[in-house]
Amino acid sequence: MTIKIVNHTDKPAVIENYSTDRYVDRDYMEREWAGMWRQTWLLAGLESDLKKPGDYFVFDMGREQILITRTKTGAVQGYYNVCQHRGNRLVNDERGHADSFRCAYHAWTYDTEGVLKVVPYEERFAKGVPCADRSLRKVHTDLWDGFVFVSMAENPQPLLSFLGPLVELLAPYRFHKMVLVEDQTARLQCNWKAVIDNFSELYHVDFLHPQHKRMVDCCNDTVHLFPHGHTGLAVPGATINPRFPVPQEPTDIQSAQLQSLGLDPADFAGRVLDVREAVQKRKREVGRNMGLDYASFSDDQLSDVWQYNLFPNVIFSFTPEHCWVMRPRPHPTDPERCYFDKLSLLLFADPDINPDAAPIVGPGRPEKQSGTRLAEDYARPARDVFDHHAIISGEKTMTDTIGVTRFQYRVAQR
Ligand code: FES
Repeated sequence: MTIKIVNHTDKPAVIENYSTDRYVDRDYMEREWAGMWRQTWLLAGLESDLKKPGDYFVFDMGREQILITRTKTGAVQGYYNVCQHRGNRLVNDERGHADSFRCAYHAWTYDTEGVLKVVPYEERFAKGVPCADRSLRKVHTDLWDGFVFVSMAENPQPLLSFLGPLVELLAPYRFHKMVLVEDQTARLQCNWKAVIDNFSELYHVDFLHPQHKRMVDCCNDTVHLFPHGHTGLAVPGATINPRFPVPQEPTDIQSAQLQSLGLDPADFAGRVLDVREAVQKRKREVGRNMGLDYASFSDDQLSDVWQYNLFPNVIFSFTPEHCWVMRPRPHPTDPERCYFDKLSLLLFADPDINPDAAPIVGPGRPEKQSGTRLAEDYARPARDVFDHHAIISGEKTMTDTIGVTRFQYRVAQR
């Protein structure tokens, strides 16, 4: 097992606070809220949920809820989802479309720019209504590669500066072209950092996820520490875990990968360690037939699984064809509870590259919309929210951290 750490920051790579307070203490939670959640950039959602002016979604973050919309000028803007009359929650739907936002309590109405436009019986306010002072309260809002970020800080650093070297490192993946195919939230009974801790080490993988031996070599990697608390690693994919007995034949996952690329698994009997390189080469050969553009990817990126963790609470796990965005959010009041979101994004074939390419079938099971060939026609899935008990009982699944279905894409046979 080889795990290297490369520290790109000027800070030591050590944890200095081993206290359990970090997970259970309400005072610690309050300090975290004031000193971190309210000070940093937060991934709020997908730009694809804001296709046209008036589209909106809400983002629950601890005790706050942010309303994010595309304004009539085409900008994306976040507001506290709070009516400026008596503080009623302004929008109650998870997402939708509105030409204006009308409070249900006394019908004060705001336009998509957040400006108060309608005050019923305005003449009955003895001192008048200072409409100009009652606009919705904005939060800083910015976009990166299809993702919407917000910051409740007074004066945050620019988003791209916060993301730093990740912007260039992740650029080949073009997440904005991927389509949401599954939207899940699990209610967990643990602090949000327990989830982050889990995704910050691979020590457990051989023991907790031995099934991964069929597809990745999960401990031969380098963990990179970046400024502002972000981390990143790449796991060799299309291979096997050599700490387990090396099989003679390609595994089921390797075979599925090879067959999807028009290769015969039998040709790799006795040489399963050659599959990774063969997958890399073959993707370059047949990529455009599949309606995919692999030109910007390195050979390693074509086969490997990358995981980048964005400070403070987002885990990206991705290949060129898919991305899982995993995001534990803190409970409003209880440090021992959190919400764990998982957004599954998938790259469809680009008809501009090959109009006859088959759409890709992947981890979000878009075959449920079997008539859909184009990404823009794919209906956004509803969010599925469930308790962790549903996962334990097998009623629900968020798939493995690296799931079998990841590789179940279909390629037009040529
Ligand atoms: S609280 Fe919204 S209109 Fe009164």
